[in-house]
Amino acid sequence: MSSLEYYSMRKENGGYMTNKIPDDVIERVKQANDIVDVVGEFVHLKKRGKNYFGLCPFHDENTPSFSVAEDKQIYHCFGCNKGGNVLSFIMEMEGVSFYESLVFLAERGDIELPSIQQGKHAPRNEEHTKLLEAYDWLSKLYHHVLRYSKDGEEGLAYLKSRGLSEESIETFQLGYAPNKANFTATFLEKKGFHKQLLLKSGLLSEREGNDVTDPFRGRIIFPIRNHIGKVIAFGGRTISDGRPKYLNSAENPLFQKSQMLYNFDEARKHMRKTNEVVLCEGQMDAIAITEAGVPHVVATLGTALTEYQAQLLKRYVDTVIICYDGDEAGLEASYRASLLLQNSGCTIKVSQLAADMDPDSYIQTYGKSAFKAQLIDNSQSFVSFYMRYIKREYNVQSENDRVEYVKRIIQHIATLESSIEREHHLQDISKEYNLSMESLQTELLEHVNRIEQSQDKTSQTRYTSKGSAWTKKERLLPAYQNAERKLIAYMLHDPNIARKVENELEAQFNVDAHKIIVTYLYAFYEDEESPDISSFIERLPEDGLKHLVTELAMIPLVDIIDYEEIDDYIQTIYLESNDMKQLSDYEEQQKLAVQQNDYFKAAEIAQKIINIEKQLKKV
Ligand code: CTP
Ligand code: MN
Repeated sequence: MSSLEYYSMRKENGGYMTNKIPDDVIERVKQANDIVDVVGEFVHLKKRGKNYFGLCPFHDENTPSFSVAEDKQIYHCFGCNKGGNVLSFIMEMEGVSFYESLVFLAERGDIELPSIQQGKHAPRNEEHTKLLEAYDWLSKLYHHVLRYSKDGEEGLAYLKSRGLSEESIETFQLGYAPNKANFTATFLEKKGFHKQLLLKSGLLSEREGNDVTDPFRGRIIFPIRNHIGKVIAFGGRTISDGRPKYLNSAENPLFQKSQMLYNFDEARKHMRKTNEVVLCEGQMDAIAITEAGVPHVVATLGTALTEYQAQLLKRYVDTVIICYDGDEAGLEASYRASLLLQNSGCTIKVSQLAADMDPDSYIQTYGKSAFKAQLIDNSQSFVSFYMRYIKREYNVQSENDRVEYVKRIIQHIATLESSIEREHHLQDISKEYNLSMESLQTELLEHVNRIEQSQDKTSQTRYTSKGSAWTKKERLLPAYQNAERKLIAYMLHDPNIARKVENELEAQFNVDAHKIIVTYLYAFYEDEESPDISSFIERLPEDGLKHLVTELAMIPLVDIIDYEEIDDYIQTIYLESNDMKQLSDYEEQQKLAVQQNDYFKAAEIAQKIINIEKQLKKV
């Protein structure tokens, strides 16, 4: 494809896909949302050199290869190769359209979007949009009923009796679904929603005689927001003794309990500040904990913590404080959750609650400050929790059991990396069971040695990969490809270099994707005077190209440009492309010679081909 074709392709479909919303509005939205801040709300970032690094939210990894460049306002993952600007980050992260991402960021940055025709930008799935709309209407309705109407009085009385503040009712947008058969159905039908969709999604349920009703009627409504703050489901608690105690909306592609954490969207910013999160078991606990002055709290929704959720949390914080019910089931669940969380790389702590308590009842009984001081600030380390957890299996009054119990604890302590921590726990045990430190240390040493031996075997494979991701890649690529990558990196940062390359090389790059990128880049610099990688990638027609550009933009460059280096790159690329052309010419000629039975000529050409190939390998 010639450059000209690329130019016209861009004019037709590419660059201006967003032209219904003025470019300057998009620009303002981007400016109001610094990429480090936005990504930082989703990924736990640490500054290293000029850029920020964290665990990639788009693929599983244990060492951070996801980087964010503040100066360029882009991100790139060296592991999975995804990359883009702040808008594409939200699109990718939340699986939303460009327009939805823009709306989200406009709201976040307090920028007013011009009202535009929805049709062009609506998310692809019509049904999902309708469903989100229905949830939006209904949560407002239920909230209004609870706060201001007679139909909501018993709901409000219930919440007051449980000690909930006005403020919580407001922030969590709690509501009440009146105990009237037709109330909700009538409301939604008036708003123009189709009965079929409402039934299918479980917002209405069927009654005998072809009639529909609200399955949540007579319940307190807890709107469940997804991670960007849209209501996607309800939890409903009965205010009588009705069963089940809690009712959740049916799952659908938008609402997957195993991937959702209640209050995550609000907790996120606080998690980022504190580098920790409190994990509890339900809506009432999460609200009570927030009221107690701990806003970085999230809750699972009636299911055990999943690996997905554990990894999600790890991306934001280093420490998770597990604050589950104090009963047997809560203890089991805490243990399982702590294993999952530790596996995903979190440090865990566990709140210690009496058997008949949950966080909410603790706060109602002992007050907010006691909760904060005792259960959050004074939460147990995993080892202390583990001691409590396995103690139930032993009768520590009996000598035999006690020895077994202590041995098992020490076995665990041996896995700790910090010797200070190990010492600390040994002392606790020594005091509690009146055992000498020497005997405990001997026991510990045995286990430590055993662990180190088994680690030696695996360590060789673990520590071999050194160097940053892109230098590794660079070494593997042929010279002309490295030249193209480096050159494009310079061109992305400097329009003068781009112009120079355009004059001397046009789009004669050898890698197809590079050819396309430079063609778009030349066009970009026709319209824009200064480099802007974040805006540039918006014009690229496909994700693969965007990812490649962010990768190339992350290549570290020297500040003072050495034009000899640039010339070398141009030369290398030029020679390669000429050689390639020469090669394909010779191959044509060779074919022809064979067809004409001119074997002497064919052999002569073959030699020429070999020479060029040798030449190419050298570069
Ligand atoms: N849950 C559920 N379905 C049930 C019971 C519980 O989905 N039938 C979920 C709810 O999200 C609930 C959480 O599991 O918040 C924990 O259950 P439980 O400890 O029984 O309820 P509490 O949180 O103590 O609720 P409450 O204080 O209102 O009784
Ligand atoms: Mn409770």
